[in-house]
Formats: sequence, C-alpha cells, structure tokens
Amino acid sequence: MLKVDHISKTFHSKIVLQDISFHLDARETIVILGPSGCGKTTLLHLISGLEKSESGRIRIDNRTVSRPMPDVALILQNFGLLPWKTNLQNVALGLKIQGISRKDRNARARKILAELGLGGREKDYPSVMSGGEQQRVAIARAYASQPRLLLMDEPFSSLDAITRENLQDTLLTTWLGTSVPYLLVTHSVEEAVFLGKRILILSGSPASIREIFDNPGFGDIEYRRSGAYYELIRSIREKLGEYW
Ligand SMILES: Nc1ncnc2c1ncn2[C@@H]1O[C@H](COP(=O)(O)OP(=O)(O)OP(=O)(O)O)[C@@H](O)[C@H]1O
Ligand SMILES: [Mg+2]
Repeated sequence: MLKVDHISKTFHSKIVLQDISFHLDARETIVILGPSGCGKTTLLHLISGLEKSESGRIRIDNRTVSRPMPDVALILQNFGLLPWKTNLQNVALGLKIQGISRKDRNARARKILAELGLGGREKDYPSVMSGGEQQRVAIARAYASQPRLLLMDEPFSSLDAITRENLQDTLLTTWLGTSVPYLLVTHSVEEAVFLGKRILILSGSPASIREIFDNPGFGDIEYRRSGAYYELIRSIREKLGEYW
C-alpha cells in the first residue's frame, strides 16, 4: 500500500537520506529505529507529503505523494495540537474536513478521548495538559479520522512506563481490529519488537536502511511474556551496537 522508491533528501547541501527504498503492505506494520538526528522524522514528513524529496518517488495505494492526503494521519513528534482549540476540537479537526456533522464528530471525538483515558478533559486546552496527555490527544485525533495509513513519530515517548504499555496495547488491539497499516518511529527496542511486524534500522550520515528484521511473533497481545520477544530484542540490540 506504501511504496518508497529510491528517496533522497538534502537540507542546505547536507544529504540526510540517501536512496531509501522499502514497502509497507496493507496488512503490515513497520517500526523504524535509528540514532537521533539520522533522518527518521524527515522520512515521515516525506511520506506524509509535508516535505518533498529531490529524487525518487513515494506511492500510497498507487497515488504518488506530492502533498498531504486527508486519509494519511501523521502524529508529529511535537504533537501538532492547535493551542487555541480545546481537546475535543483538536480531536474532531480532521472530521470537519471530511464533511462529518458536528454532532457526529463530537460524539466520535468524545468516545476516542475516553478510550485514551481523557474522558472529562474535552473542554481543556493543550496548554493545561501534561506532555503525555497532549500526546494522547494527538493520538486520538489521528484515530478519529479513520485513516488508511497511520504515521507516528515517537508517539509514546512522553508517557510513563505503564501508560506507555497500555497505549501500545491499544494500538496493537486497534490494528488487530482494523488492520490499518502503520509506520512508527521509536527509540525503544522493546516498543519496536512489540509493535512492528518488521523493524527497520536507519543509520549513517547520510542515512540508509542498514537492516530489516522480520518479527514472526508480532500481533499477539501476550507477546511480551514470550521468549521469542526477548530473543529478538537481544539480537536487535547486538546489531544496534554496530550501527550507532
Ligand atoms: N527543515 C529542516 N531544515 C534544515 N535541516 C533539517 C530540517 N529538518 C531536519 N533537518 C536536519 O536533518 C537531520 C535529520 O533530522 P530528523 O529530525 O529527521 O532526525 P531524527 O532521526 O528524527 O532525530 P530524532 O531521533 O532526534 O528525532 C538533522 O541533522 C536535522 O538537523
Ligand atoms: Mg525525529
């Protein structure tokens, strides 16, 4: 459903990404790991259409990406919430553009906020929410638009360990129910192994894809308790030492 073909990106004559190619199938998920500053956010921006690459092509369901698409949701590293809108309005934002009535979009936004543990916070503004709470509002907004593809840039990084695991479970359960493919960036190897059907290592300057790990145990909510989970974490960690 997503095809990234020989993408390169340069900022001010510095090549950040060089010749990146991979694909994401409709029933798949990919998690990207890579050192800070290597170009992971840049890659998500290119796929979402927020930035343009100098060479190569990105296709989503046979449409070439040239600008942001309404059915591709991006959760930004800094959340991307509008400070002058309430949580409910922020979550319902994309639904207005989709032409959904106010009553229906508020109902949907309310339901998703409650699912993410933010029931009762609909009228609050982002400025009074903690970092982790803002992150959850941003996640709610992405889910609310029922996207065909979900792009997430370190979506759980500001959360405490337990909330983080709960939201990882929510994401996996949602994926099992809807099978909306996602591409997620993280610095946590544990998160990568729990949430990625494949795990892609991006590294170097300019960055390229160094390795892709298959994760046959992915998709089981009890995966964290299995030996295979720890085994894969161990072998990815070993490899990361070489690439960092
Ligand atoms: N708009 C921009 N203009 C100039 N340089 C940029 C721009 N965006 C990113 N860069 C540079 O491109 C490189 C990659 O940045 P990017 O944000 O993609 O890294 P990252 O892998 O997401 O890092 P982190 O893990 O810290 O979030 C960095 O050197 C950054 O300074
Ligand atoms: Mg980043």
